[in-house]
Amino acid sequence: MRHDNSDPIYQYTDTPTTDDTFYMHLALNEAWKYQLLTYPNPAVGAVVVGACGEVIAVAAHREAGKPHAEVLAIRDAYVKLSGDLSLAECDDAATLHEQLPERSRNLFHDKTIVVTLEPCNHTGRTPPCASLIEKLGFGRVVIGSADPNPEATGGAKRLKEAGVDVIEGVERKACDALLEPFVRWRNGRFVFFKLAQTLNGVIDGGIISGERSRRWVHAVRERIDRLLIGGETVRKDRPRLDSRLTGGKAPDVAIFTRHPDTIDRTIPLFSVPGRNVSFTDRLPEKGLVMVEGGAGTFEALEKETDWMVLFVAPFVKGGMGYNGAKNFEILHQRKSGEDIMLFLKGR
Ligand SMILES: NC(=O)c1ccc[n+]([C@@H]2O[C@H](COP(=O)([O-])OP(=O)(O)OC[C@H]3O[C@@H](n4cnc5c(N)ncnc54)[C@H](OP(=O)(O)O)[C@@H]3O)[C@@H](O)[C@H]2O)c1
Repeated sequence: MRHDNSDPIYQYTDTPTTDDTFYMHLALNEAWKYQLLTYPNPAVGAVVVGACGEVIAVAAHREAGKPHAEVLAIRDAYVKLSGDLSLAECDDAATLHEQLPERSRNLFHDKTIVVTLEPCNHTGRTPPCASLIEKLGFGRVVIGSADPNPEATGGAKRLKEAGVDVIEGVERKACDALLEPFVRWRNGRFVFFKLAQTLNGVIDGGIISGERSRRWVHAVRERIDRLLIGGETVRKDRPRLDSRLTGGKAPDVAIFTRHPDTIDRTIPLFSVPGRNVSFTDRLPEKGLVMVEGGAGTFEALEKETDWMVLFVAPFVKGGMGYNGAKNFEILHQRKSGEDIMLFLKGR
């Protein structure tokens, strides 16, 4: 036991208390960096661990169609263990699935792979990860959540049948939380509200969050099915709501208002090429939906909103605060440039 849970610090913190939970939290942290950016795939993280408990590689799935987390962690571990740099930059899943078993020989026999989600067992846009892990001869596989996708599940069973020591359900609650957007959008819809505030809770008066946070927002806008924006925000802020910081496709926008006639249609939001703009008094029924707006929009849609993504910028100023009342659970937090970024779920 390298992480001793008799240490008094563990009585006061959420710090992982066993080796497997420690590795799982490394995998989780990496995966959260790409949360929502992997749509329509889930966010997944993986860690390759050596025979003496050393962390060899940590990776996450980054984008649909690109290699899964396990494959990237195995690639990085292979490069480190073998010194062969020729695959170091390869992010073509088919090449990695073919080349890694050919080149690895016995490199992984005494290694463990820790994955937030059961390795997939089907050929989708990439070959099955369970088959790669089996071919490489991993001795042990540690899994957080079971795969909720009926077409992809069966990886754990397959690995057990191949004689691999498979441990399931490690930090399952935290792994299930990571997976929640995927599960919800598969069942119809996932809605998250994006908000930026100053340290003293001011949300108006122009741009609040820093460049890095705004780049994240623009990258997510490229992937969502619909952006719903508060009508009053459109009237006051006259935003463009595109993805110019990341250079991608601008999202279709639905303006949340009961008074479409009072919206000025000459503002830039309406002239972004290829974009559809509509007016609505409800959320779309399906897909990945981002909501941007102030307190009025949030209050009106709160019951149907799954998560809030909140950026807190490190300054104070005068202005309008957010005067709602609601309790949240923090699912994940991290620095985003100069800001703090919080993934919140209403209680
Ligand atoms: N810091 C940030 O991240 C951020 C982001 C966006 C906006 N803001 C700030 O927030 C303020 C505006 O917030 P807001 O847009 O939420 O406006 P708001 O003043 O809070 O009003 C709520 C909006 O929601 C609409 N609405 C409420 N219930 C509705 C329903 N049942 N059906 C259809 N529409 C409904 C209202 O429609 P009507 O048009 O019919 O009244 C109104 O446009 C601005 O000061 C803006 O700068 C801050």
